[in-house]
Amino acid sequence: MRIDILTLFPEMFENVLGHSILKIAREKALVQYKLFNIREYAENRRCVDDRPYGGGPGMVMKPEPIFNTVEAIERETDARCKKILLTPQGDRFSQSIARELAKEAHLMLICGHYEGFDDRVRTGLDAMELSIGDYVLSGGEIPAMVVVDAVVRLIPGVLGAPDSTDNESFSEGMLEYPQYTRPAEYRGMQVPPVLMSGNHQKIKEWQKTRAVERTSERRPDLLNKT
Ligand code: ADE
Repeated sequence: MRIDILTLFPEMFENVLGHSILKIAREKALVQYKLFNIREYAENRRCVDDRPYGGGPGMVMKPEPIFNTVEAIERETDARCKKILLTPQGDRFSQSIARELAKEAHLMLICGHYEGFDDRVRTGLDAMELSIGDYVLSGGEIPAMVVVDAVVRLIPGVLGAPDSTDNESFSEGMLEYPQYTRPAEYRGMQVPPVLMSGNHQKIKEWQKTRAVERTSERRPDLLNKT
């Protein structure tokens, strides 16, 4: 998969893309990240934002530097690429959207900043709009990192064990069951004996029951969805 990130702050991504699973995915050549500084595509590099028509606080990102960046990328690649605008007004990002995006060959993530984009960016680009939650961040960079992380770990071959994403939270519309590792007792707290019984049937039943229990206690909304 190729992932293009269009941002005014490409340096913000270097650390995140250079560590852990995102780094391993690149080393395995399963993903290629490309950062584009929107400012470099502006007709006047000093001017990527402007005051909003109609008044109001803050600055709005101008359409031209963004369109110029998108079109420069499209000229050098095949045009079939999934464009995503990060905005608090988008559809709520979820594990099922991450699973769909993990099937794409080419993603383009466009990060807004300041008070957001001129609305013609939204109407003029055939883009999906995603929000990572009902709160406003100072830009789309952190949301883009969230989307990249959630998607890349689902690309086949990125994680060691092929089934390691099957049981995790949200994979079946439920939160994950509790996990334990050694030691069997820590500060008087015991690992549930069934997990050390070697009885795989019983372990599976225990995990399923705990997952349902946890989900109904903490996120009953998830159970109602399925
Ligand atoms: N930009 C600012 N806040 C955002 C959010 N919650 N999700 C996506 N992009 C954003």
